[in-house]
Amino acid sequence: MIELSNVSASYGTVPAITGVTINVGEGEAVGLLGANGAGKSTTLRAISGLVKLTSGSVKFLGQALVSMPPHRITELGIAHVPEGRQVFPEMTVNENLEVGSYAPRAKSDRKASLELVYGIFPRLAERRTQLAGTMSGGEQQMLAVGRGLMLKPRLLMLDEPSLGLAPVMCDVTFEKIAEIHKMGTAILLVEQNVSRALALVQRAYVLESGKVTMSGSSSSLANNQEVRAAYLGI
Ligand SMILES: Nc1ncnc2c1ncn2[C@@H]1O[C@H](COP(=O)(O)OP(=O)(O)OP(=O)(O)O)[C@@H](O)[C@H]1O
Ligand SMILES: [Mg+2]
Repeated sequence: MIELSNVSASYGTVPAITGVTINVGEGEAVGLLGANGAGKSTTLRAISGLVKLTSGSVKFLGQALVSMPPHRITELGIAHVPEGRQVFPEMTVNENLEVGSYAPRAKSDRKASLELVYGIFPRLAERRTQLAGTMSGGEQQMLAVGRGLMLKPRLLMLDEPSLGLAPVMCDVTFEKIAEIHKMGTAILLVEQNVSRALALVQRAYVLESGKVTMSGSSSSLANNQEVRAAYLGI
């Protein structure tokens, strides 16, 4: 459903990703793995229109996204849960979630989406009137994912959802992502927790210095010597 062909992007004159070709099929869960600075977040930004491409193309359900403004890309059903959560701290949980459904495709189903999100994340339901900024890191992460779901996304892009979370919250986060995937949402998951990511996704790409250096099924990557040495510490 999403297809990047030979995508390059840079910040100023410094290239961040070069010739990245990846795709995610309908209902698929795909990983984007790699070390700090490899270009994972930039790849997600290239999809959601937050960084200009220097070359290449991005297509969603056959439609070219290049040169579309970010809000229009969102309206097509691409939810981007950015690195570092970025919830609105002075707004309540409920208000943060409502913001996620501003797009026309989601607005009329706001009530049902809220119930869905609160069903997946009972912790958010208990705290719907709490200010987001006073929630724990794990709870804010749930809120960020929940806000993404409020869009009724066809594709949910998650940028390091487990970063900085205690092991228990990390487990919960991965369980919830698996649950969301089972509901039929396609997922593009950026993770540094490679073993957990490979347990969740069907396929993954490895980025190194802005280029895709390896790709394949989760099992083939988990058994790959280079991946084991570089990312799994085996
Ligand atoms: N706003 C920016 N301005 C300038 N350079 C940037 C900017 N954002 C990222 N870069 C550079 O682009 C390259 C790719 O960064 P990116 O954030 O995509 O990596 P990443 O794989 O997401 O890393 P991390 O795991 O640390 O989040 C890096 O060299 C980074 O320094
Ligand atoms: Mg990043």
